[in-house]
Amino acid sequence: MEVLDTVAIACDHGGFALKEALKVALPDVAWLDLGTDSAESVDYPDFAGKLADAIRDGKAARGILICGSGIGISIAANRHAHIRCALVHDVTGARLCRQHNDANVLAMGGRMIGEAVAKECVEEFLSTAFEGGRHQKRIDKLGSC
Ligand code: RB5
Repeated sequence: MEVLDTVAIACDHGGFALKEALKVALPDVAWLDLGTDSAESVDYPDFAGKLADAIRDGKAARGILICGSGIGISIAANRHAHIRCALVHDVTGARLCRQHNDANVLAMGGRMIGEAVAKECVEEFLSTAFEGGRHQKRIDKLGSC
């Protein structure tokens, strides 16, 4: 895996343990850690917003979001028009969200997925290119939904 660009990562308390584990498991990634920084209860829209702002401001091209299920934080991320966030549970999903959807944010559930699979999902997400072609016009239509 060749990852030279900064990757933003953020979570709520339900994703805190997995966020920390991913940083250890993938030390070569240039992480921009936007919190949360403990297992104390926080609100996932706040951290989805921090990550969306970082991508909007060019601080990172892609991001990883984690909450307990991955559901809330992915919903919150997709409220931001420049974010295409995919909630995945396996490596196939992580590959397809890049190839077909040009996802710029990957969401996972810290209470749903094991560390080893989550690591593989991140590697696949960061190393897989968008296929373009017939998929581009569909991405373009997302802007007018
Ligand atoms: C927090 O308890 C939990 O609700 C949150 O992490 C997430 O799973 C919501 O979708």
